[in-house]
Amino acid sequence: MDRIVVRGNGPLSGTIPISGAKNAALPLMIASLLTDEPLELTNVPRLADVVSLEAILANHGVDSLIKGKRFGESGMSGRTMQLQAKEIVDTNAPYELVRKMRASFWVIGPLLARCGEARVSLPGGCAIGTRPVDLFLESLRALGAQIDVDGGYVNAKAPSGGLKGGSYTFPKVSVGATHVMLMAASLASGTTTIKNAAREPEVVDVADCLNAMGAKISGHGTSTITVEGVTSLKGASHAVLPDRIETGTFAACVAMTGGDVMLKGADGSLLRAALDVLERTGTTVEETEGGIRIARNGGVIQPVDIVTDPFPGFPTDLQAQFMSLLTRADGVSHVKETIFENRFMHVQELARLGANIAIDGQTATITGVNRLSGAPVMATDLRASMSLVIAGLVADGETEVNRVYHLDRGFEKLEEKLSAVGADIERIGSD
Ligand code: UD1
Repeated sequence: MDRIVVRGNGPLSGTIPISGAKNAALPLMIASLLTDEPLELTNVPRLADVVSLEAILANHGVDSLIKGKRFGESGMSGRTMQLQAKEIVDTNAPYELVRKMRASFWVIGPLLARCGEARVSLPGGCAIGTRPVDLFLESLRALGAQIDVDGGYVNAKAPSGGLKGGSYTFPKVSVGATHVMLMAASLASGTTTIKNAAREPEVVDVADCLNAMGAKISGHGTSTITVEGVTSLKGASHAVLPDRIETGTFAACVAMTGGDVMLKGADGSLLRAALDVLERTGTTVEETEGGIRIARNGGVIQPVDIVTDPFPGFPTDLQAQFMSLLTRADGVSHVKETIFENRFMHVQELARLGANIAIDGQTATITGVNRLSGAPVMATDLRASMSLVIAGLVADGETEVNRVYHLDRGFEKLEEKLSAVGADIERIGSD
């Protein structure tokens, strides 16, 4: 299994291109199931999750074609992918395919809407909490679907005549269930109202793409979304928005090491809460037309308190990375996780590097230390893995991050991007 070795190596400087967002690319790819015409997506990141989803979609009859190889050519990452589901050949999504990635469960929405039925295995994904699917089932029931769960599978059936518009108020904000309801309601008859919908930028990106495909969605980006159902959707071309989690992660790297780095193609409006926190740590954040400049030249890292929340709050997907930054702050910080109940698994690994973190329920208290020291550590989930890399960037000696397949799920060309700005980081392949 590959490992990543990082050696503390001083400030970073230069430019890092920001990739297309994984969390938008995945539901956008799934949206291709809604039409028999081609859906072209540009700025798709090269990630293990994208490849896994291609296999899952192929099983349902989606042909995917990668056009051109643009990484590094224009300074921007990403490539163009054309997906076409001329015919849905299978409405089953088996356990072997779905278990790897939670988002693959989301095929239930478009399959049900287009074919009137779907049988989808309960999902897997990062082990960061129980992550049930009750909200998906209740919201699809609001569109008239009949659903039962049996033997690890969800069996869903639309009423004769197809899904019907309805109204549903999410008791809790769910990004995935909002995506699924949007896709299902787009092909339902009549109007659907989704209340307490997720406002994440990736939901807005998917709604914009569905509208380009002929859907009639309004209110996306607010907590009430209205969908007027249409009878069919057509092909479209859509550019995946920049990855705000990758942006915040590299920003945390620079805040940790010091230096001056331009995050090219990043959009500050997608991560305002995280940028505010960075500024409070004493980091310079400068938004320009081409991206975001992050700099910290001298000066200590100021301690801050963070609470994760649905968008526009501080994203849970940046919690581990910012906690890593705060391990070197000049004082005591607190990080409260409100989205997932088991998302502190990186804490014990950070402790191996010398961090001083105490957990009480959903709150971590981080007492800054002067020095971290390299050690072998284990990546536990996708974003948590990056917290170890960030700590490794300033630790004395060598930090060896094992189980890097987690990183490959969500960070495109990580070692190349960080090496290009001066980090001492390399991947060591398994023999
Ligand atoms: C998405 C993101 C993930 C991010 C998360 C929260 C993708 C591919 N993944 O995950 O990176 O960390 O949003 O911003 O976009 N819940 C239920 N019942 C359900 C569904 C969810 O209780 O049926 C709970 C979850 O356990 C969690 C909370 O709702 O506590 C939010 O989860 P949700 O927004 O659904 O996360 P995902 O869409 O899986």
